[in-house]
Amino acid sequence: MPAILEVEDLRLHYLTRLGKRVQAVDGVSFQLQPGEILGIAGESGCGKTTLVSGLMGLLMPPLHLTSGAVRIAGRDILRLPPAEVRRSVLGRDIAMIPQGALNSLNPTRKIRDLATDVILAHDEGADRRAIQERLRERFTRIGLEADAVLNAYPVQLPAGMKQRVVIGISTLLNPRIVIADEPSSALDVSSQKAVIQLLFNLLDEGIVSSMVFITHELPLLRHVAGRIAVMYAGQIVEIGTTEQVIFDGRQPYTRALMGSMLSAEPGQKSRKPVAIEGAPPNLGEPISGCRFAVRCPVAQPDCTQRDQVLREVAGRHVRCHHAR
Ligand SMILES: Nc1ncnc2c1ncn2[C@@H]1O[C@H](COP(=O)(O)OP(=O)(O)OP(=O)(O)O)[C@@H](O)[C@H]1O
Ligand SMILES: [Mg+2]
Repeated sequence: MPAILEVEDLRLHYLTRLGKRVQAVDGVSFQLQPGEILGIAGESGCGKTTLVSGLMGLLMPPLHLTSGAVRIAGRDILRLPPAEVRRSVLGRDIAMIPQGALNSLNPTRKIRDLATDVILAHDEGADRRAIQERLRERFTRIGLEADAVLNAYPVQLPAGMKQRVVIGISTLLNPRIVIADEPSSALDVSSQKAVIQLLFNLLDEGIVSSMVFITHELPLLRHVAGRIAVMYAGQIVEIGTTEQVIFDGRQPYTRALMGSMLSAEPGQKSRKPVAIEGAPPNLGEPISGCRFAVRCPVAQPDCTQRDQVLREVAGRHVRCHHAR
């Protein structure tokens, strides 16, 4: 099957007001197949949200395209005029559930009006009555009390429901790809589960075709993603199946990231999380050799000398020349 999304050696940088260049995404490549859920995990500042901006074609200063391509169903969205991105990419090819979605709803307007606007923005001539019918149908289908929710203001909804409403509104136009950027980190565990279940329903119902699920909690991806990419300092350092990455990570950073998280699995022996010493490198400075070497528990003297490339190890791809 042809990939629905192809990211090819994508590089994105910020230009700060002081003229500094921050290479926040530095050579990211992956593909997403129809029906697939890809998880992306990594520490704060590793470039996850910047990558999302690239995937959505949302390149505006201070963020700039350095090089590379993002193709959705074969079309390179980074070379489209911004008006075309807004008209035909956003919400249709790809939609995002934003980080901190709880606060992304305009508090002064009813859910009904916010949702109606999404449809009108893509179809100015849409019939008002038909839109209302469509909203009721969709909200009901995703398990919301349509009438009550549509007539509410965002502040009147509990956090978990607000999150589901945000997801409902973001996917009104049946986007091929949905990106969830830490959609559940601000929620309690049961609301978090409900949100993940809703995202699965969207796939099952054929409302969306594929998903990218982004979090810094790598273990959370175990029950969510089929494949996982681990990011560090603007690059993918390991990408493989969920089994491979979570239970048998071969890149030292993957293992450190797993080890730094509480394992919340029932029935599993509890162990103490081990924090990763030190901090990620400053992406505003050039970095030579392996970007993780200064923090890596198994680093060798040659690690800071050799730039690392992704290579196949035990059926997945790893950026570490010592990995076996
Ligand atoms: N407007 C900006 N100008 C300059 N640098 C920026 C800007 N926005 C982000 N950065 C830098 O780009 C890098 C990647 O940031 P990004 O927000 O993509 O990380 P993230 O992985 O999403 O982090 P988090 O887990 O905290 O959401 C960081 O080093 C950050 O400091
Ligand atoms: Mg982010």
